[in-house]
Amino acid sequence: MPRTYTAIFEEAVAALQREKRYRVFADIERIADRFPKALWHGPQGPREIVLWCSNDYLGMGCHPASIEAMAATARSLGTGAGGTRNISGTSHPLVLLERELADLHAKEAALVFTSGYISNQSGISTLAKLLPDCLILSDALNHNSMIEGVRQAGREKVIFRHNDVEHLEDLLRAAGTERCKLIVFESLYSMDGDVAPIGRICDLAERYGAMTYIDEVHAVGMYGPRGAGIAERDGEMGRLDVIEGTLGKAFGALGGYIAAAAPIVDAVRSHAPGFIFTTALPPAVAAAATASIRHLKTSSAERQAQQANAARTKAALADAGLPVAPTPTHIVPVIVGDPELCKAASDLLLAEHGIYIQPINYPTVPRGTERLRITPTPFHTDALIADLADALVAVWRKLGLPLREHALAAE
Ligand SMILES: Cc1ncc(COP(=O)(O)O)c(C=O)c1O
Repeated sequence: MPRTYTAIFEEAVAALQREKRYRVFADIERIADRFPKALWHGPQGPREIVLWCSNDYLGMGCHPASIEAMAATARSLGTGAGGTRNISGTSHPLVLLERELADLHAKEAALVFTSGYISNQSGISTLAKLLPDCLILSDALNHNSMIEGVRQAGREKVIFRHNDVEHLEDLLRAAGTERCKLIVFESLYSMDGDVAPIGRICDLAERYGAMTYIDEVHAVGMYGPRGAGIAERDGEMGRLDVIEGTLGKAFGALGGYIAAAAPIVDAVRSHAPGFIFTTALPPAVAAAATASIRHLKTSSAERQAQQANAARTKAALADAGLPVAPTPTHIVPVIVGDPELCKAASDLLLAEHGIYIQPINYPTVPRGTERLRITPTPFHTDALIADLADALVAVWRKLGLPLREHALAAE
């Protein structure tokens, strides 16, 4: 490769470094029987730390039922899927997983992809391509995977202001009732932890004849009596046309899916390149996900403990004067507002306090709202929460970041 090509790539990385947006991934080894404890392979060798930013929200990736299902299935069926489903058929654990997911969301069918990202990208683009002259109405804060799905559809799109149903209605009205319309939105927005007005969006969809596609990636497992998400909790699940979710966060495995009426699922199965032309999920991963979904369908203990710990964490950090953004969900954002300070805070927490919280910078969040995104699990004890508050206060002081006055005076 000529030297000039390499220089272009070096400059692409240097530009990120100059903007303080260059990402460094910590080298981490989870300790399955002591979650959220992990080993950090840092400059001084391995050291025990506490994870505070895992999207294994309920610790199901370390649950004995999921681990045993994965290990036993790998032993009996082997490791990989052996190819695409077109070529190799569907492994039986994947058939069971899709049944489990259809049942979870009370839909006729479900289709599993190799990630939530691919399910959005391939699912949205395929659906919109199949709908003649489809207008896509997309929430302004939708995840990158949904934006890519909308882009790849090649259809006309309009963006409605985040969670703004009046704006959405204006756009639907302008499109008229005759035209095919697909409303694409999330139930729980993972960076700000806010929730969509699902019922009101469904009202509009019904009034103007639109189809709905909801991403429940940050809610499945964690909300609703059986862990089907916010739509289940709010009694709106049956009104949504397509529900998309991940197996990689609260279900502790890997993969993504859509659940919908059988003709919709069959159309995506038959037309989506991101489904057709890629090796299927390994059977052991499917079995682990099924075990986890089954467990969370009947056990609410994890959900309740997670909500209680999220509330305790928010209260402890706010009492310590830290800038916790209020959220109605399990997400605890602590706003720093500067990319360099956000990275420095994360580095200090890890190096000096053994606490791992990845900095969240632009483009994941808007510039000026850089943050530490904290995700308490059922396994973060009161002692760990108190340690976190102390460590954050020490880091805030060291970096000269503002702490709320009256909280300091009360010390
Ligand atoms: C809203 C949303 N949708 C989809 C995804 C992708 O899911 P997965 O991690 O399973 O690819 C993410 C990932 O973080 C997400 O935040």
